[in-house]
Amino acid sequence: GAEVVINGSSLPAVADRSNESLKHSIQPASSKWRHNQTLSLRIRKQILKFLDAEKDISVLKGTLKPGDIIHYIFDRDSTMNVSQNLYELLPRTSPLKNKHFQTCAIVGNSGVLLNSGCGQEIDTHSFVIRCNLAPVQEYARDVGLKTDLVTMNPSVIQRAFEDLVNATWREKLLQRLHGLNGSILWIPAFMARGGKERVEWVNALILKHHVNVRTAYPSLRLLHAVRGYWLTNKVHIKRPTTGLLMYTLATRFCNQIYLYGFWPFPLDQNQNPVKYHYYDSLKYGYTSQASPHTMPLEFKALKSLHEQGALKLTVGQCD
Ligand code: CTP
Repeated sequence: GAEVVINGSSLPAVADRSNESLKHSIQPASSKWRHNQTLSLRIRKQILKFLDAEKDISVLKGTLKPGDIIHYIFDRDSTMNVSQNLYELLPRTSPLKNKHFQTCAIVGNSGVLLNSGCGQEIDTHSFVIRCNLAPVQEYARDVGLKTDLVTMNPSVIQRAFEDLVNATWREKLLQRLHGLNGSILWIPAFMARGGKERVEWVNALILKHHVNVRTAYPSLRLLHAVRGYWLTNKVHIKRPTTGLLMYTLATRFCNQIYLYGFWPFPLDQNQNPVKYHYYDSLKYGYTSQASPHTMPLEFKALKSLHEQGALKLTVGQCD
């Protein structure tokens, strides 16, 4: 059969943290991991039954017009109108059209990256994906600089840019966006109603200042499709994280996929504390009942794929 074996049995909601990181231990980066091409191709094929990254990475101009009404994916009763600005920023063709890369890096935001020295290695990949506008300049030695695609949940505007309350914060965001220098800015604009104004602010800023980014807004079906794929493989995720979404999309256009900064545990493999994010003081919240994410469960699935050679997880130092 073509089924990939991913053992997805649930972890306890609040596991014993002192032992949790040991359960998830990964061989050091230099161990004899080998890419499994056959398995990677099989996974790509399977995922294509649920979604097509080339299409689902963004809604295109041809499919919407200003004034169209969209129901939010997680708040079905709430709607938004497609604004003129949003319409202008929709791509005409998929930013991934006919794209193929030998190796891709997906950089998660775990504090496990600090002192990893992985920056150089990350930057050698042909396509580098980052999440939630995470800063790079100040952390280049550990996270690298190259960015081909970066995601931006609308909540980032609140969390990292003080909801643009004054000119200083607007300038800060603007500088970050200018720094993207032509890469793809991927904004999940249709997920939850809470992000409405934030998306509009960012869109307006990009247009006003002619920021050189290629905006993309994921399709309305992406989330359910990704969830469907993982559920079919017995990974019972409630709501896929950005990191898992990126891996699922990347299987379409990347031959080899390398993951960095995926470590949703407060202790590393040597029992040293790990920050939730490498760049801020946000705390671990995913174990709470309220959090829709099931990061440790996702991690378990990714670890299993690492062991089978479908992807490579780096959770320690780079050579
Ligand atoms: N991540 C991880 N371990 C952490 C923090 C993050 O594995 N300690 C991975 C997750 O896959 C996450 C991605 O890195 O989606 C990006 O991190 P972050 O910006 O924190 O994403 P979240 O906001 O947590 O996830 P989402 O955007 O889906 O809410």
